[in-house]
Amino acid sequence: MKNMIAIILAAGEGTRFKSETPKVLHEIFGKTIIERVAGIVSGFDKKIIVVGHKSELVKKSISDKNMIFVKQVKQLGSGDAVVQTEKILKNFTGDLVILSGDVPFLKKETVDKLLSVHKKEKAAASVLTCEMENPSHYGRIIRNTNGTVKAIVESKDAADVIKKIKEINSGIYVFSSKELFSALHKVKNNNSKSEYYLTDVISILNSENKKVIAYKTDDFKEIMGINNRSELAQAENYIREKILENLMISGVTIVNPGTVYIEETVEIEKDVTIMPSTIIKGKTKIKSGCVLGPFSYIDSSTVGKNVEIRASFVYGAEIADDVKIGPFSHIRKETKIGRYARIGNFSEIKKSVIGENTKVSHLSYIGDSQLGKNINIGAGTITCNYDGKKKHKTEIGDYTFVGSNTNLIAPIKIGKGALIAAGSTITHDVPDNKLAIARERQVIKKLKVKG
Ligand code: UD1
Ligand code: CA
Repeated sequence: MKNMIAIILAAGEGTRFKSETPKVLHEIFGKTIIERVAGIVSGFDKKIIVVGHKSELVKKSISDKNMIFVKQVKQLGSGDAVVQTEKILKNFTGDLVILSGDVPFLKKETVDKLLSVHKKEKAAASVLTCEMENPSHYGRIIRNTNGTVKAIVESKDAADVIKKIKEINSGIYVFSSKELFSALHKVKNNNSKSEYYLTDVISILNSENKKVIAYKTDDFKEIMGINNRSELAQAENYIREKILENLMISGVTIVNPGTVYIEETVEIEKDVTIMPSTIIKGKTKIKSGCVLGPFSYIDSSTVGKNVEIRASFVYGAEIADDVKIGPFSHIRKETKIGRYARIGNFSEIKKSVIGENTKVSHLSYIGDSQLGKNINIGAGTITCNYDGKKKHKTEIGDYTFVGSNTNLIAPIKIGKGALIAAGSTITHDVPDNKLAIARERQVIKKLKVKG
């Protein structure tokens, strides 16, 4: 935004979080609170962030290279935090937007609206407010009879009659920079927290007959502050519901949405069904016709058409069309599964390629392997890929049949159309179209019969 300056206040310790991690570094759906706030002002000419508590950690977490960091050494209150920016704004006479580092869902359009009302009214300050049924810890807005704002009273300092006011301060403001700094120097800390409140600027401006107006939003979720872990969970739920809603509107069936968690980075085509208790994360892409879950976890994977993934973990994998996975399978990263393949119950696949129509249906471990097409891997087959020091590769050719309970000691190469007898421990390569059997021959011995 041209000639516009934004200040984000993020120096506070976030005591109510009771955390070693600064409040603003807690994540909501894979993104820190502060990164979300920084995103709101990404288009501003100049962006200043006031940091303090564990400032180096907060600094490191901000990806916007144009962000200017200002340190508030002692956390003496939100007013004192703004005072720290004065030295770099000495020559600035325009309007300043101030955001709270813990209010992450504010829409850019609302900031634009607040700015345009501020300019139209030629106000010294404009406050974004909202009506709330239960205003709890938020600052209350006291209006003059002409509708302008007289003061903001913090909940902790409010008399009962003021606590009844339902209009609250969002912590988002536009100020004329000159008026702001001159009033800030008059702020005192004679309140319940002994802090220099930014909100006290409002009554100071009012007493000097400077115009302070309020712009009301009716979307409380947009201005919710995240002060403790309960509010963090509410915020997460808010985004979660919005993501699911968008997906359902776009043609995805979600059964029992209350139990489903899908990150905003996930892309899902229409006519996919998400069953209960399913989590989908990262840059996952899912094509139409899939049924995912119940009880599945899919992260950073691509999933083709008509795939079924039931009660399984899949991450960093590429799954072709018409594959069936689960229940209780573990598909690990760098795995590629070909069309019509079947990875059945209790199978683990790691860093392997599974060819078209190949079946690993029961209780197997396939690691560092390259399997061709139309292979049948019998129940309990294990690729023994690790010798205690190094990982080794297993290769199996098309149309091979591996009998149940086979150990394949890698590095090993099994040819095409081979047959491995059940219960074998295969230590040498097997050529194409040959039978390998590597187990003790059964003997029948006479039993000493008692009695
Ligand atoms: C603040 C407002 C309250 C408003 C609410 C909206 C004040 C005094 N009160 O209350 O009227 O309803 O936000 O969410 O501003 N900060 C610093 N340095 C400090 C203290 C705070 O940078 O010394 C920062 C915090 O990191 C935070 C913001 O200022 O981002 C607000 O501080 P916080 O303690 O969360 O204030 P609230 O009690 O939520
Ligand atoms: Ca807050």
